[in-house]
Amino acid sequence: MKTAIVYHSAGGNTKALAEAIFSFLPEAELFRIKDFDLSTISQYEGLLVGTYTWGDGDLPAKIVPLYEELEVAQVTPLVTGVFGTGETNYNHFCGAVNQFRDMLFANTQLAVTLKIEQMYQDSDLSRIQKFTDVFKAKLKAQQNKFEKSAAL
Ligand SMILES: Cc1cc2nc3c(=O)[nH]c(=O)nc-3n(C[C@H](O)[C@H](O)[C@H](O)COP(=O)(O)O)c2cc1C
Repeated sequence: MKTAIVYHSAGGNTKALAEAIFSFLPEAELFRIKDFDLSTISQYEGLLVGTYTWGDGDLPAKIVPLYEELEVAQVTPLVTGVFGTGETNYNHFCGAVNQFRDMLFANTQLAVTLKIEQMYQDSDLSRIQKFTDVFKAKLKAQQNKFEKSAAL
């Protein structure tokens, strides 16, 4: 089950979170957004998107093309999750995660979301592991669904 983790990070908080998620999901491929070829999305069964939040609950500009591609691509069976870092003292904590969540819920098989305050701490590791466990379970369920329908 081919899975990509694609993230955008300016200061390193979201990068560290993406790497922690990758450590629980070593079979995945990890990409910075600038290294990810949007035309390959349909090759994946699973996609995890990571982003920080900018402005007033906004998507950072560099992640917008991925958002727009997922809005129009025909990827209904794609199992997805979204994670991000933000700061609770802003009005829209992790607003970019909320934006991805709503779009991915409509267009893909959204499994799970995760919001972390700035740099993750050791105390967040159990939530990070849970995030990957829920994602893996949904991927497996989706795979079984396809195997069943192929057998009919
Ligand atoms: C100008 C500016 C605007 C921000 N706006 C928000 C916001 O609306 N909501 C939020 O949760 N965090 C906001 N943040 C905080 C960042 O999302 C947070 O520090 C994040 O962890 C940065 O991730 P990075 O280190 O991966 O770049 C903002 C930060 C800056 C500098």
